[in-house]
Amino acid sequence: MDKKVMYSAVQPSGNLTIGNYLGAIRNWVAMQDRFTCYYAIADMHAITVRQEPADLRRRTLELAALYLACGLDPQKCALYVQSNVPAHAELAWVLNTFTYVGEMERMTQFKDKSARHPENINMGLMDYPVLMAADILLYQADYVPVGVDQRQHVEITRDIAIRFNHRCGETFRVPEAYILKEGAKIMSLQDPLHKMSKSDENPNASVYLSDDRDTILRKFRRAVTDSFNRVAVSEEQPGVTNLLNIYAAFRGCTAAEAACAFEGRGYGDLKSAVGETVADALAPVQAEQRRLLADKAYLSGVLKEGAERAAYTARKTLSKVYRKIGFYRGE
Ligand code: TYM
Repeated sequence: MDKKVMYSAVQPSGNLTIGNYLGAIRNWVAMQDRFTCYYAIADMHAITVRQEPADLRRRTLELAALYLACGLDPQKCALYVQSNVPAHAELAWVLNTFTYVGEMERMTQFKDKSARHPENINMGLMDYPVLMAADILLYQADYVPVGVDQRQHVEITRDIAIRFNHRCGETFRVPEAYILKEGAKIMSLQDPLHKMSKSDENPNASVYLSDDRDTILRKFRRAVTDSFNRVAVSEEQPGVTNLLNIYAAFRGCTAAEAACAFEGRGYGDLKSAVGETVADALAPVQAEQRRLLADKAYLSGVLKEGAERAAYTARKTLSKVYRKIGFYRGE
């Protein structure tokens, strides 16, 4: 039987956080043996918010090095830059005609980002989920491993795929979001009711994958908790629950098991244990990323080969779509 297909991507915008790592990249590694995997660097999504060109280029390479440093193997998965495969933009255009403006206006991320960037509510920002649908559908993906915040975008991808299949005949596989419990939604350390985000203005709210040990320990020491003085997973203790989730995700246990391990101990102990765990886990990834970044020729080779493999599959789907909608392809 054919292997199932996994597709996911991260935007090379801002500094990646442990939320991006736990919610997405880390889980991809575990799946590369069982699935046919495509993992992209979503630079076309990134430009829906203004980017400095030099920074965007640098972050694209940094993200490629990070993918590899986290353990993604270019022999097992296609690692590539989205803009290097033209079929993404081409399919997005077709899918635009199968998507309603009202659907896009209702997307939570569109509403959030428009509120944050009122000076730049561009068409790309609104069209973002359609490009994401094109990403996923081009590869006939079965599963899309993402954090909770992307669930809505995977749902609209399903709607678009079903609509297209219904109108034009079976063309796309209808994908499912693949969301693990621990790590699916890492919250801000300063405001645990909001997700940790690379675009947060308060640097203490997020732990970046590039933070050094002292910075990581300090950020966890300053994490907002509560006055219950009880280490437990509970809705009324979002800060403590978040710390337990982070600890559990890095240690490979459940948050409830982590809470048991800290029973009767103070928040100070919990915060330093989480900080140490995160710093220990990130140190080898950071060292490997630095090593890879010094070898630009290797990185560029990996991305070139990844783009070729991705483009091959993407072309097949795009040709099918063009045929179904009646585009003239020569005699
Ligand atoms: P992006 O770049 O915002 O985030 C990358 C991944 O990190 C996850 N994530 C989190 N997970 C847990 N806790 C958090 N606090 C947290 N913050 C972010 C996100 O859910 C995501 O999985 N639109 C996507 C990129 C994309 C994509 C795709 C994803 C483009 N095309 C196709 C899947 C399939 C995005 O902006 O992710």
